[in-house]
Amino acid sequence: MSAVPSDQRLNAPSWVRNKKLVAWVAQIARLTQPDRVQWCDGSQEEYDRLCAEMVSAGTLKRLNPAKRPNSFLAWSDPSDVARVEDRTYICTPSKEEAGPTNNWMDPAAMRGTLNGLFAGSMRGRTMYVVPFSMGPLGSHIAHIGVELSDSPYVVVNMRMMTRMGRAVCDVLGEQGEFVPCVHSVGKPLAAGEKDVPWPCNPTKYIVHFPQTREIWSYGSGYGGNALLGKKCFALRIASYMGRDQGWLAEHMLILGVTSPEGKKYHVAAAFPSACGKTNFAMLIPPPALNGWKVSTVGEDIAWIKPGRDGRLYAINPEAGCFGVAPGTSEKTNFNAMAMLHKNVIFTNVALTDDGDVWWEGMGPAPAHLIDWQGKDWTPDDGQAGRKAAHPNARFTVAASQCPSIDPDWENPQGVPIDAFVFGGRRSTTVPLITEARTWTEGVYMAATMGSETTAAQAGAQGVLRRDPFAMLPFCGYNMAEHFAHWLELGEKLAAGGASLPKIFCVNWFRTDENGKFVWPGFSENMRVLAWMVERIKGGTSGAEHAVGVTPRYEDLNWTGLDFTRDQFARVTAVNADEWRKELDSHADLFKQLSHNLPPQLESTRQTLAQRFS
Ligand code: GTP
Ligand code: SPV
Ligand code: MN
Repeated sequence: MSAVPSDQRLNAPSWVRNKKLVAWVAQIARLTQPDRVQWCDGSQEEYDRLCAEMVSAGTLKRLNPAKRPNSFLAWSDPSDVARVEDRTYICTPSKEEAGPTNNWMDPAAMRGTLNGLFAGSMRGRTMYVVPFSMGPLGSHIAHIGVELSDSPYVVVNMRMMTRMGRAVCDVLGEQGEFVPCVHSVGKPLAAGEKDVPWPCNPTKYIVHFPQTREIWSYGSGYGGNALLGKKCFALRIASYMGRDQGWLAEHMLILGVTSPEGKKYHVAAAFPSACGKTNFAMLIPPPALNGWKVSTVGEDIAWIKPGRDGRLYAINPEAGCFGVAPGTSEKTNFNAMAMLHKNVIFTNVALTDDGDVWWEGMGPAPAHLIDWQGKDWTPDDGQAGRKAAHPNARFTVAASQCPSIDPDWENPQGVPIDAFVFGGRRSTTVPLITEARTWTEGVYMAATMGSETTAAQAGAQGVLRRDPFAMLPFCGYNMAEHFAHWLELGEKLAAGGASLPKIFCVNWFRTDENGKFVWPGFSENMRVLAWMVERIKGGTSGAEHAVGVTPRYEDLNWTGLDFTRDQFARVTAVNADEWRKELDSHADLFKQLSHNLPPQLESTRQTLAQRFS
């Protein structure tokens, strides 16, 4: 086939009325030279057809319809299994604007690199035009993007993760603005060349131009590298927009929690990747606390804006979950398992002999499986340490399939936030739950958060790193300015007479001398959440320690759980030696972020340090 695109061959349907969109599609088609351009309308027929084509191509396997109706399994290339943070760039005019925690390249130099990489990169493939809305279609808080991608896997995932298709173009109209997102797996096909099931390229670039609100992604087909509405748009570009416009885009779940008296509160919680957001957002209280109810507004990203009443309101810009499979079971996350009965795309989990899926932590392993790399697997292989599912294996599913979905999850006004929670994966040092005494102290806790790395990012696992606001890989501008943005927002709201949300810091992950988690976690986290609500209501239970306010043993409801005073002491202890080291390491972070670092943070650090001297 001859390489496309004279503009006549763009095949733009009549429902596309935005001239800027058509011109940009033509421009990218001239650069990337796809064989065809296909405009995605978001229909079920289109989804079904693309899935069927991917089954023929070997990209997807159809799961047993009796067990998982309308569900598929994808196995990625073993080199393309997680976000590539070291290949992710924020291309602001100056390096200082991106800040020391982001990779930066001069925008003009990066454009040169990208033009080279994308030239002819879609040869032999179809370029899909994927219009999508982050946030409910047509609502005043939503923002539109259009992703051009040569990956049909991206198209079907975007249909679940966003509001996608023709209706978006209707909202866009003739003049509407959109964020242009260009994605190529970086594997053009020569004439007659046979495709591979998961095309990708060893060279990868995930690039953002915040000033012009553009996203370019090359070489990967996986998750946040390729589904550009998610981390690239809803976090990196949106955080930059929010800084300019006075709102926040955060790596946070949003949950509703209703007390036994029937009063409802809303909590937004930031945990780093694979540290429990999906689990916390879908929590089912243990039987002894069954007067409480938790509902799910979002499980990965929150857009948070001040309302006219001076409170902060949060919306979930996504329409689906791209959740971590390993560790998910009916015991740890019953609601997530209930979402997965039908209409799911699984990626990098294992295939059972009866055409279903399995992953570590789901339950007893079957006697035989095909692992995520297509090899035979038995429980003996598991004993030997070979995993059947990749540790960052994921499921993609519509949020509407979540049994605990909140009735307000698509409310364009959002839900009013009563508390922010920050938490990392810390085997030592950080107590189970601490309440910040002030907004500034809470921002300090968020800014200095640390976490041991997980499989969600390429690279070594279990390495402690600072992950401010759980936004280290997702902040589209200078992290120190993100701290300032939070402090200023707090000051502004307080000056208007509003009472600010409380800020808490949690850690479910302290371990004992055998490396086992001491806190049972999962549904038992309800006990901690109930204490937070108590404090939101103005309750005075708890005691002050050096780094904040914490519940005493008698302040938590222990009905139905055998957790001793001694165990509680282990997960709540604030050890002075550990904390002196911790505060020194905060100083290192502040040194790294010294450009435009708000002075309140270092003064808070010194106040805390005095308490330990
Ligand atoms: P991303 O989608 O990567 O942003 O992650 P997430 O924060 O939504 O992660 P998720 O909720 O899927 O957590 C994944 C991992 O955390 C799994 O291995 C879970 O078993 C583990 N996890 C979640 N909650 C808890 C908890 O309360 N205690 C312990 N020990 N582990 C937990
Ligand atoms: C994360 O890594 O925080 C995720 C998964 O939510 S991905 O979409 O791949 O970024
Ligand atoms: Mn995430």
